[in-house]
Amino acid sequence: MAIVTIRLKGISMFKKSFIAAIFFVFFGMGAFNLSAQTKSKAILSGIPWFDNNGNTVSAHGANIIKEKGKYYLFGEGHKDGTNAFAGFNCYSSSDLYNWKFESIALPVQLTGKLDSNSVGERPKVMKCPSTGEYVMYVHADTLGYKSQYVGYATAKKITGPYSFNGPILFNGKPIKKWDMGTFQDKDGSGYVLLHGGDIYKLNPDYKSISEQINKAFEKGFESPAIFKKDSLYYFLGSDLTGWERNDNYYFTATSLKGPWTKQGFIAPPGTLTWNSQTTFVLPIEGTKETTFMFMGDRWSFPKQNSAATYIWQPLQVDGHKIAMPVFNEAWKIDVKAGVNSSGEIKGNEIAANDQQIIYTGNWQQDTLAVKSSDTKGDAFSFTVKGTQVGIYGLARPDGGYANVIIRNSKGKTVLTSSIDMYSKYPTVLLKFLSPVLKNDSYTVTLTVLGERWWWKEKSGRVSGSKGDVVSFEKIMVIE
Ligand code: DGJ
Repeated sequence: MAIVTIRLKGISMFKKSFIAAIFFVFFGMGAFNLSAQTKSKAILSGIPWFDNNGNTVSAHGANIIKEKGKYYLFGEGHKDGTNAFAGFNCYSSSDLYNWKFESIALPVQLTGKLDSNSVGERPKVMKCPSTGEYVMYVHADTLGYKSQYVGYATAKKITGPYSFNGPILFNGKPIKKWDMGTFQDKDGSGYVLLHGGDIYKLNPDYKSISEQINKAFEKGFESPAIFKKDSLYYFLGSDLTGWERNDNYYFTATSLKGPWTKQGFIAPPGTLTWNSQTTFVLPIEGTKETTFMFMGDRWSFPKQNSAATYIWQPLQVDGHKIAMPVFNEAWKIDVKAGVNSSGEIKGNEIAANDQQIIYTGNWQQDTLAVKSSDTKGDAFSFTVKGTQVGIYGLARPDGGYANVIIRNSKGKTVLTSSIDMYSKYPTVLLKFLSPVLKNDSYTVTLTVLGERWWWKEKSGRVSGSKGDVVSFEKIMVIE
């Protein structure tokens, strides 16, 4: 029980342990529970996130809606090793940094589309102003992506359970396209967006389509997302490269009906949208200003649960131009004021060639002054005292997977995680950061898995990493 830390004022020690024990029984599927004082203080991109139970936050292809001061995140729940539908998850947060697992909002269905032999992607939830119901729109498909439609599900409560109602109909017919998104305008009108640029307006009950207001105007243009600032609409999307990253781009228009004018890339070209694919833009409206938060996915099949990460960045929005000129490994948002500021991860650094680090196997020192290995089972470990530990590595075109295990001073495993060391261009990045843990002495072991991310498109094209290399740069210890 030592790993459970709960602050309960005015309750006897005995009661505290009893409550902690119950808590552990109910939520002990993860390695630990984060206590009230052990919270993340920034939005961190490109590393696995852990929820209140110590499980990875699995909510890709997501959107966020705000209700009574809380943010609700909906996304694809994934399992490693398979692409089969595993349910759509819901998490909540009041600061956008720390996420509480709420529910599997839409679970795997017993039969039909969205059963355990299907694909379910990109869930987007909107609250219908006329009925007060929550409506979730999804891409439902077969495992091989050959028979898709836009489906919808409804719930009385924001966290669900959502009932799946099959395809949303336009003129009595399903919309047979795959990547989708949603947009809710200030007047409460709801829209479904499709890859290529189609925009459909929903009827007031949000359960069917009234009209198609914009026709596809672009080849590809997957993962469509729209946001509005003042009277201008911004339409973001990605190129058509499966789960491989590309330079996402955007259009602007003064009406959802267009005409849409291509404006360029969202991030500096070549960064491949800082290695991510758009899914949603969240306006964080505060008393002082609005920060528009770009939400992107860094996919990682077959480890979409443990190694795929999130790229959430503040967007600069200035007239017809939007930009993410720099990659913020960490940044802060004051959700009350709507103001964002820079954040940093500060700690004591231990270089890869430090004597404290014990290597086993055949690690090589390469020209980039990092230790590298692609041999399954090669490992290194180190013991540090503190509350948080981070690992920096060189992500590279031949980068592979590593596994990280953290054990406390009693030898008990408090966290396990995967790391994906792939990037189409070499870049040194923070690849892992533990949640804030109880102050203790921790032994961290990283093992090379001899595996990599890859994916075979239905066209037959194979994308992914070219190797299994894990390149390690330094450790960061936060006391
Ligand atoms: C690209 C889409 O944007 C993703 O949601 C997913 O469907 C992949 N294709 C599958 O290859």
